[in-house]
Amino acid sequence: MIEIIPSILVKTGEELLEKITAIEPYVERTHLDIADGIFVPNMTILGFEEVESLDTNLKIGVHLMVSKPENHIVRWLETPADKFIFHIEATSKAQEVIDAVKETEKSVGIAVNPQTPIAKIEAFIDQVDFVHFMTVEPGFYGGEFVESVVEKIKDFHFYYPDKPIEVDGGITPETALKLTEAGATMLVAGSYIWDSKDREKAIEKLKSPAAI
Ligand code: DX5
Ligand code: ZN
Repeated sequence: MIEIIPSILVKTGEELLEKITAIEPYVERTHLDIADGIFVPNMTILGFEEVESLDTNLKIGVHLMVSKPENHIVRWLETPADKFIFHIEATSKAQEVIDAVKETEKSVGIAVNPQTPIAKIEAFIDQVDFVHFMTVEPGFYGGEFVESVVEKIKDFHFYYPDKPIEVDGGITPETALKLTEAGATMLVAGSYIWDSKDREKAIEKLKSPAAI
């Protein structure tokens, strides 16, 4: 079963609400992109208060594209968000981030940028709930899909067949097919969903990419 998770990357609480309302009928979960202007050259809402004031049934995962996630995670854990993704490239305290989430019932994934080798996260793979592969450079909607990550995912899946794989960036029915064949089960999609007129249909197409 493939899970399609629409991503939300916004600069205001209003935009957040608009996007939540647009996808709420079609999915169970969303992926909120948080960017700090340091780890990536873009800035989004800060997020904590916006998420706390939302009235939604959607489950919320937070993608921390921020430097030193260890300084943010404790505050995030107070919010209703239940899934967290942080970058190995952004911290020397990955263990601290994982431990903080593991003290709760919430889940944690470690993210790797397109050029970051698996070796960099080896020590943490057993401890995280999933691995999050970036297939674009992080920070924006509409980045270019980095084809070589498909091989990286295949290798990873060979060595860690039981570890859930999430992929983020440049998801279309074409890339979704390659990625699910490579072992991914969770796909985070932004522009493909937001740029389509019929969001429900776009999500359906990504769910069964072989049918295109
Ligand atoms: C990219 C973000 C992604 C982004 C995906 O930096 O982490 O979650 O929203 O958008 P698309 O699907 O347009 O690449
Ligand atoms: Zn993301």
